[in-house]
Amino acid sequence: MDKIRIVGEKELRGRVEISGAKNAALPAMAATLLTPEIVSLENLPYVRDILTTRELLESIGVAAEVLENGTGTFKAADAGALEAPYELVKTMRASVLVLGPMLARFKKARISLPGGCAIGARPINLHLQGLEKMGAKCDVSHGYVEATTTKLRGAYIQFETVTVTGTENLMMAAVLAEGETILDNAACEPEVENLADMLCAMGAKIDGAGTRTIRIRGVKKLKGCRHRIIPDRIEAGTFAIAAAITRGDVEIADCNPKHLTSVLGQLSLAGAEISMGETGFRVRGHSEISSKNVTTYPYPAFPTDMQAQYMALMTQGDATSIITETIFENRFMHALELIRMGADIKVEGRQAIVRGGATLTGAKVQASDLRASASLILAGLAAKGETIIDRVYHLDRGYARIEEKMARLGAEIERIS
Ligand code: EPU
Repeated sequence: MDKIRIVGEKELRGRVEISGAKNAALPAMAATLLTPEIVSLENLPYVRDILTTRELLESIGVAAEVLENGTGTFKAADAGALEAPYELVKTMRASVLVLGPMLARFKKARISLPGGCAIGARPINLHLQGLEKMGAKCDVSHGYVEATTTKLRGAYIQFETVTVTGTENLMMAAVLAEGETILDNAACEPEVENLADMLCAMGAKIDGAGTRTIRIRGVKKLKGCRHRIIPDRIEAGTFAIAAAITRGDVEIADCNPKHLTSVLGQLSLAGAEISMGETGFRVRGHSEISSKNVTTYPYPAFPTDMQAQYMALMTQGDATSIITETIFENRFMHALELIRMGADIKVEGRQAIVRGGATLTGAKVQASDLRASASLILAGLAAKGETIIDRVYHLDRGYARIEEKMARLGAEIERIS
């Protein structure tokens, strides 16, 4: 099993190009099920979750190709095996995203129920409730959801909790339903908007994506399209923290700085110097890092997917900061590993109290999920001596060649087996 080895205390300098967003690419790939015509996707990140989704689509009968240069071609003309099996869903919860499109186009789907994962219980009750309101019947047995419908009909659906993939799943179901669907208290993440743009290019009628209320008027059928995946705001934010924590100077290119307003605002409060451009930004780290509290909320607030990385930065702050996680109930696993590297962190329920000024020292640590892995890399970059991160398959699910990108910025980092 691969590991990442880092020798810390090197300033990162230079320019890094950001890949396409995994969390925009996954629903886009699921949406290719909505038409028998060819769909071409550009800027797909070449990461494990994308390859798992390709495998899932192939198992359903989609002709799917994903190239290392980020282009993908999909043709769901002969999709027939309307099932997302346990073996694939267990490795990637986002497999549930095929439920809405399969139901919309083929009127039935059988999906393994995703279990809990390292960061929380993560139920899909809101996906199922929404589909039932639209006229589907969802039965859960033997660890699978079996959903069937004679016809999906537009409905008014108000989410009791903001859910990203829930919003995406129901939007994909609603585009082929009869009549109008309104999704209220919808997620307004840029990934949701990117999916809506793709669906509109396929002929769907959607207004309001990117706001809390999305209105979808169903159409009879959708056509093929060419669609570009937005840049990965979480990868961009991770490199921004890499610059700040190493007191480096990094230009983060090929991204959309507007998608990072809260993250960059927070980094600037913490003392990093940020210069904004149209398609990138520059982060200069300062020797003094200010400890600043943060609370995660749905977009446009500070994202839960940046919480672990921000915690690594706060271990180097000048005072004490409180990090509050409101999205997932168990997303502090990285804290225990950071403590093994010398951090002073106390977790109390949904809050982590991080005492700054810790001297981090390299250690053998274990990644527990994707963003936790990123936070351990960041801590390793700041630590004295050698850090070895185990279980980097978590990292490979969502970061494209992160160790190569960091090495090009001057980090002493390599993959070992
Ligand atoms: N929730 C429910 N019922 C549901 C759906 C969600 O109670 O039916 C709860 C969840 O348990 C959680 C909250 O609602 O407490 C928000 O979860 P959400 O559904 O928004 O999460 P998700 O759609 O499963 C996506 C991203 C995650 C990211 C979250 C929050 C994808 C593929 N995944 O997950 O990304 O953390 O939104 O922004 O888009 C990652 O990339 O590392 C990652 C975990």
